[in-house]
Amino acid sequence: MRIGILGNGQLARMLALAGKPLGLDFTLYDPNPDGCANLLGEFVQAEFTDLEQLQAFTASVDRVTLENENIPETTLHSIPQEKLFPPAIAVSKSQDRLVEKQFLQQLDIPVAEYYPLESETDLLAALERQQAPLIVKTRKLGYDGRGQVQVSTREQAIAAWRELHHAQLIAEAKLIFEREISLIAVRSHSGEIRCYPITENTHHQGILHTAIVQQADPIQDLAEEYGKRVLTELHYVGVLGFEFFQVGDKLLGNEIAPRVHNTGHWSIDGAEISQFENHLRAVLGWPLGSTRAHSPSIMCNIIGRFPDKAELAAIEAAHVHDYQKAAKPLRKIGHVTLCSRDVRVLQDSYQRVHALVRD
Ligand SMILES: Nc1ncnc2c1ncn2[C@@H]1O[C@H](COP(=O)(O)OP(=O)(O)O)[C@@H](O)[C@H]1O
Ligand SMILES: [Mg+2]
Repeated sequence: MRIGILGNGQLARMLALAGKPLGLDFTLYDPNPDGCANLLGEFVQAEFTDLEQLQAFTASVDRVTLENENIPETTLHSIPQEKLFPPAIAVSKSQDRLVEKQFLQQLDIPVAEYYPLESETDLLAALERQQAPLIVKTRKLGYDGRGQVQVSTREQAIAAWRELHHAQLIAEAKLIFEREISLIAVRSHSGEIRCYPITENTHHQGILHTAIVQQADPIQDLAEEYGKRVLTELHYVGVLGFEFFQVGDKLLGNEIAPRVHNTGHWSIDGAEISQFENHLRAVLGWPLGSTRAHSPSIMCNIIGRFPDKAELAAIEAAHVHDYQKAAKPLRKIGHVTLCSRDVRVLQDSYQRVHALVRD
């Protein structure tokens, strides 16, 4: 069986790494020649809008999946839908923050207050109405906190509008939350849904730094209920990542990502079956595997600069993942997962990784 992946970044790479033991072959499709997955499969360098190349790619594989939700809708619709998982409709719901929020609200999943913006006046009116800081975000193509500006004053609002108004914008109330969590859930062709234990996530400048697995967390059931609502509504097949803000005992939906997710990377080393293998199983129409954690785990991203690998490897309980990407400021180039049933080992390892990965 050959799986075609739209995208050639680290998520595609970890999908291919998970698929190799299952005897799967991979073809990566991406306009950018500098990806990091193509060492593990065939590579087609072509634009997502090149329908001729896309058709040849689709014909040469048994299933098509994606690692990036920003694939144009026309591209997704040009792929025979019986080969494409997750379905195009699910992907389109996550491409635009306004559509995403409206979709979550339709499913009775709460979200932060938000204001679609057509003009600077709309933004000033939103600020007036909210009487508290807002985060102005581009509706499309944002990631790792890019395309976002926090505004508290009229002057900042005017500056933010000037900086971002070339794109469609939305403003959201800046929440004061207890914590950020995410749920990784997977749905099979037959409609079976399995969820991993949630992670508590920390971000710095909008970029994920750590995801700490929370076993038997009191908010797990609510996160799963919301996750299942989304997966069922979309007739979803594959893994979906769902980011939430926890305020009191409520969860507010932030983003849904129709793909494997950074906060699920711990599952390669810390779960019985990883998010990557489960995604492939779902895409292939196979039964899903166990989503249980076999030990407490913490995942730390490596951003911008790779520390000395031997020093990382010297840390007890550290699984080191190097995506073999060129180092660049603010770029995710690897991660380390710490897994141990011994709390002291876990905490000590975490302190040591933390000291090495910070610039
Ligand atoms: N409304 C909000 N209130 C408080 N913090 C926010 C809000 N929106 C985003 N953030 C912070 O910025 C991070 C990145 O924003 P997010 O909307 O998830 O965009 P992306 O992950 O696509 O860059 C979030 O994980 C969170 O830490
Ligand atoms: Mg996010």
